[in-house]
Amino acid sequence: MARFQRHVFICTNERAPDDPKGCCKAKDGAAVAEEFKKQLYARGLKRIVRPNKAGCLDQCALGCAVVVYPEGVWYGRVAVADVAEIVESHIVNGKPVARLVIPDEALTGIDPNAPPDPFS
Ligand code: FES
Repeated sequence: MARFQRHVFICTNERAPDDPKGCCKAKDGAAVAEEFKKQLYARGLKRIVRPNKAGCLDQCALGCAVVVYPEGVWYGRVAVADVAEIVESHIVNGKPVARLVIPDEALTGIDPNAPPDPFS
């Protein structure tokens, strides 16, 4: 089993068309996931960086949502056309694509009353 250096989780969650939360499947999530796979494999990163289709990442309003670990960089409104830039800039050169990063204050799931992160 490979010990990957990074994981790229791409939301491909699907909801009914009339669901008010919407979903990343309707925002090309599956195509975005396939493009990550294509781009990463074409660069010989297949055994180093793993693209994973994910269920809802709880950033539905900002889909297609993508998160890269271990850095924990969250991307929103990712389109197929953005994937090559994320792979080149972030994955290959270590520089996240700022224009697509979801700022911490816009992420759901962060408790505003939580104590400070001891690791930051
Ligand atoms: S449906 Fe993609 S983040 Fe919720």
